Amino acid sequence: MQQTKVLFFLLITFWGIVQCQPSKKIVSQAATNYLEHCGHCHGRNLEHLKEKGDKWIFGKTYEAIFKVTKEGAQEMGMPAWSAVLSDEEIKNLTNYILKTIEK
Ligand code: HEC
Repeated sequence: MQQTKVLFFLLITFWGIVQCQPSKKIVSQAATNYLEHCGHCHGRNLEHLKEKGDKWIFGKTYEAIFKVTKEGAQEMGMPAWSAVLSDEEIKNLTNYILKTIEK
């Protein structure tokens, strides 16, 4: 009986730690931001960005994606997001995009 209690306690603790993982929250926040703001132009599953392969206009790098997302490329129809998203959110979004297109 005592063992069951200890096991149960450990399980709850472990579950609590897993729930608090900040990296998971950041990824899911970035995924939500992507769906909300980018998905309708670039594909809900990033299809449009994945299809680019090695033919990215500004480059498939962290710096390029961050800059284009923040400042936009208005002449091409890509809006600037600096008024909507914080630098932190754009940073997380950029990492999310880079990770997802690699898959
Ligand atoms: C109104 C439609 C629209 C929305 C919404 C939009 N984009 Fe774009 N985006 C474009 C267009 C058009 C281009 C330039 C041409 C192309 O890449 O097809 C572009 C280009 C880009 C590029 C550069 C691609 C390259 O080839 O170098 C990135 C990165 C990008 N968008 C990210 C985002 C992110 C992140 C969001 C959401 C915060 C977003 N876009 C929202 C239309 C949009």
